[in-house]
Amino acid sequence: MVSIVPVIAIDGPSGAGKGTVSQLVASRLGWHLLDSGALYRLVVQAAKNHAIALDNIEALETLAAHLDVQFNVVDECTPVQVLLEGEDVTTTIRSEETGNEASRIAAQPGVRAALLERQRAFRAPPGLVADGRDMGTVVFPDAAVKIFLTASAGERARRRYKQLKEKCPNVIFSDLLDEIAERDKRDTERSVAPLRPAGDAVTIDTTELSVEQVVQEVMSVCNQRLGG
Ligand code: C5P
Repeated sequence: MVSIVPVIAIDGPSGAGKGTVSQLVASRLGWHLLDSGALYRLVVQAAKNHAIALDNIEALETLAAHLDVQFNVVDECTPVQVLLEGEDVTTTIRSEETGNEASRIAAQPGVRAALLERQRAFRAPPGLVADGRDMGTVVFPDAAVKIFLTASAGERARRRYKQLKEKCPNVIFSDLLDEIAERDKRDTERSVAPLRPAGDAVTIDTTELSVEQVVQEVMSVCNQRLGG
């Protein structure tokens, strides 16, 4: 009998806490982690490194298919280190600008197709926690557990503001709120792999919850569905 490596798909809009929660869940289970958003951000970064315009879709598809990337896990509280062509871009790719550009190129079907098998290749024993927008709907439709994490746009902007304020004191809350609304709209309205919960996903609204409470809820859904 073929044994299928289990996947926990964690999808949702920007700022819902997917990254932090996925990393903690993966670490507690001792499973692999896929940060699929980082791949879209890395296509943008690679395009910048090679002076390729973001409207040159054919070149972006080629870049996406040949990304030279390495993810190094340090511990559950430290952001996963990301190397692009050997260069540490962990912090660079997290900017708002790169996030917005990633959302634009992610609407291109050819770019998504070029990243599909690369994402599926992260599925390895004992299991994978996959964080993104279309993990449960497109990339791993057979995931054993599908979670859709959400939070009000105001709360997501507040979390982002708190994160950014230390590094950039000039950050403006209303700008962040507008950017989040714009990114949500683009991600939910695109024709290919739009952001939406899978039919069999469990939705968790994190607006009023702490990170630990969300992790506990996710773990409890996992225990029910994986029979742990
Ligand atoms: O999650 P993160 O903010 O890093 O993702 C950046 C952008 O990449 C998102 O706004 C979204 O447009 C795109 N993305 C996607 N599908 C995924 C992950 C991210 O379209 N699975």
